[in-house]
Amino acid sequence: MTRNSSFYICQSCGAQSKQYFGRCSSCGDWNSIIEQKQSLSGNRNKKNHTGSDLETRPLRSEPIASVRSKPLTRMKSGYSEFDRVLGGGLVPGSLVLVGGDPGIGKSTLLLQSASAMAKDYSVLYVSAEESAQQVRLRWKRLEGEVSNLQLLAETDLDTILGELKSFQPSVAIIDSIQALNDENLSSTPGSITQVRECSAALQRIAKQQEIALLIVGHVTKEGMLAGPKVLEHLVDAVLTFEGDRFASHRLLRAVKNRYGATHELGVFEMQGEGLKEIKNPSEIFLSGDSASGISTIVACEGTRSLVVDLQALVSATTYATPRRTATGIGINRLHQILAVLEKHMSLALSRYDCYLAVGGGLEVEEPAADLGIAAAIVSSFKDLQLPPGTVLIGEIGLGGQLRPVSQITKRLEEAVRLGFNRAVIPKTNQNDNINNQIKLKIIEVKNISEALIAALDTISEQNI
Ligand code: TYD
Ligand code: MG
Repeated sequence: MTRNSSFYICQSCGAQSKQYFGRCSSCGDWNSIIEQKQSLSGNRNKKNHTGSDLETRPLRSEPIASVRSKPLTRMKSGYSEFDRVLGGGLVPGSLVLVGGDPGIGKSTLLLQSASAMAKDYSVLYVSAEESAQQVRLRWKRLEGEVSNLQLLAETDLDTILGELKSFQPSVAIIDSIQALNDENLSSTPGSITQVRECSAALQRIAKQQEIALLIVGHVTKEGMLAGPKVLEHLVDAVLTFEGDRFASHRLLRAVKNRYGATHELGVFEMQGEGLKEIKNPSEIFLSGDSASGISTIVACEGTRSLVVDLQALVSATTYATPRRTATGIGINRLHQILAVLEKHMSLALSRYDCYLAVGGGLEVEEPAADLGIAAAIVSSFKDLQLPPGTVLIGEIGLGGQLRPVSQITKRLEEAVRLGFNRAVIPKTNQNDNINNQIKLKIIEVKNISEALIAALDTISEQNI
């Protein structure tokens, strides 16, 4: 009797089944299932699991305390913003996935970094998307400095693995994983099976030879990296490169990092001759304008604090349901803050449209921005400017109370550094040992009405 050695795999979600279906029962996509011969990595190293030889095997586990620790060495990427996001530098033998929309600058970032690293380490840049001439042209445009960067324009997985074995680089860059092709597989490059198998093979060789591997992955039309989460589990770090299509600055963010903090942020600017680091990013998120509807918050992204301007526009609605849009802040957060203001400040905001935006295309997720959002809305609603030089920090509870926020000292220090002289913060934060050295007038408030009255009082003083 012959055993069926095929299985079926959905190219959209990666679900496997023993039978062919026209529609994937997991994700619901039509015609996305293809047949796969069982020659995959899972079988390559198949061991006998019958348990027949279990008793004869020597013990392989060991007490955790006696595991020999190896000091973690890190290779500098040549850019301090990149190192910051990596947690201090590239770790030998680690896999880092760099994802982002097409055209955002992934190849530029990695080529610049590879070129800089090639001065100290042996670096192999594998370009599966562009020809060697194209990469050379880009490299010339970026700096053209003599460096020992080794280049391979290839899509075939076996050739790349062979090159990694014979050249034995310390760092290798694969641009991009979706363009690689494993000949043993019937599916097309970029499909889930290809991406998974190619990355597994690359991972094995990276761990064996202690190569720090940087892999470029495109974001799919659903906004996911290199197929639905296929790679994110496999790699040690996932970095996303994002930015406003209409602005020149780019944000590199760590979404997952086994060797550093997540949510760490690096800021770059795309210029005519490549990406430049921005070491003082607060300045690009501050508009410097003073008008009604503008407030300033201090957001924390990983270990970095950023002073950011928020803008709100509140105007009487002409629709049955008022329009609410938010750029850079979750829409639910905006709805919640509007409801709190309506209930606890008796502002009839349900008859007003409200538009909210964060300066510089930043996404602010943390609740510490709540007070700033509320102040921007009230400032636009009352058409009163908030006092200049003031930052607002605090999370707003549903009862209108202000909740403490994390890392308050760090936030206040950043505000002082940028010349701010007044901060409105939650009263509950007072017991945190706020550094007495901070030269800032601190106004502690218990709830949203106290916070806004404090601000509005200052405004009326100014108006007089
Ligand atoms: P690229 O690195 O090719 O993007 P990705 O690999 O993420 O698809 O970047 C392409 C864009 O960057 C392209 O629109 C041109 C622009 N660019 C510059 O503005 N300056 C430069 O020096 C370079 C090399 C590219
Ligand atoms: Mg590219």
